[in-house]
Amino acid sequence: MIEETEFDFENRIVSTEMTGEDSEVEISLRPKAFEDYIGQEKVKEMLKVYIDAAKGRGDSLDHVLLYGPPGLGKTTLSGIIATEMGVNFRVTSGPAIEKQGDLAAILTSLAPGDVLFIDEIHRLSRSIEEILYPAMEDYVLDIIIGKGPAARSIRVPLPKFTLVGATTRAGQLTTPLRDRFGVLLRLELYKAEELATIIKRSASLLEVNIDDAGALEIASRSRGTPRIANRLLKRVRDYAQVKGDGTITLDIAKTALKALEIDDLGLDNIDRKLLETIIKFYGGGPVGLETLAATIGEEAITIEDVYEPYLMQIGFLSRTPKGRCVTRLAYDHLGIPFGVGGGVQMKIDG
Ligand code: ADE
Repeated sequence: MIEETEFDFENRIVSTEMTGEDSEVEISLRPKAFEDYIGQEKVKEMLKVYIDAAKGRGDSLDHVLLYGPPGLGKTTLSGIIATEMGVNFRVTSGPAIEKQGDLAAILTSLAPGDVLFIDEIHRLSRSIEEILYPAMEDYVLDIIIGKGPAARSIRVPLPKFTLVGATTRAGQLTTPLRDRFGVLLRLELYKAEELATIIKRSASLLEVNIDDAGALEIASRSRGTPRIANRLLKRVRDYAQVKGDGTITLDIAKTALKALEIDDLGLDNIDRKLLETIIKFYGGGPVGLETLAATIGEEAITIEDVYEPYLMQIGFLSRTPKGRCVTRLAYDHLGIPFGVGGGVQMKIDG
């Protein structure tokens, strides 16, 4: 196994995980209406139709499952759904619901039509999922009282509510849970132009001056992810303040991102190491996910959900039936001659 100190997973500036600092700023930057939510056009279009239809019928919105890589604005979108429906927005997450009673308490406190958002819904335990089935389908809570032969079940009616579930992959959900969602929507990585618009909107809310070229430079290194774009914006702003006159220009953005060791495509040291490991130890692939995970000391699921979507989007990595392969484009980007691998181990300095 490669020494874990080589990979500083925790402090990754391009991590898609929400940090404490992010949550504060992210919440303040969160768009509150569809008009301010940039990108994801297809998803917005469909949601608007379903919301208008539900409102027209005076009904609650069907349960919605949002899936896609982390950091793309699933929580934000759910908040907008609640605002547009004119109902309360309640937020929780799979890992936060430990006991059946936790979920029962939330469900019984909902008002008619409310949106209940469950982040990381694939992490709910089976026993909690079982509470959710009748709640989603028939708007009832089945509670078992007592144990053994004396146990009896009582049914408590619930208000009609909308469950919005978020997950990194719909495939991680059990079939009975997935089947209870009427609307399944996939969020895609953002285009650089969309991220540039998001960055300019955030800069204006944070009262930071930024020009178009500076915004596009940060955007094109943000791995298709608004959470990363907003984080890089803050770091580059600090740089502009200390080293420049406070305005984020192309030059300032380039210098700051270089100092952060984020390359032209938004790859950081960990991405480069991941690709180099496949080349160095496995001749560029194919290598199985589990083997790769053990080699770099990271969980397979994290590699799949966090690192791979972007590396695949830019065509640096392919998933084949035999395992992961590094593409020629990646060799070129890393400055490693292609074809040296091919199953033969090669040496990379450093
Ligand atoms: N912040 C995070 N995601 C966003 C989006 N899609 N539009 C505007 N601001 C955002």
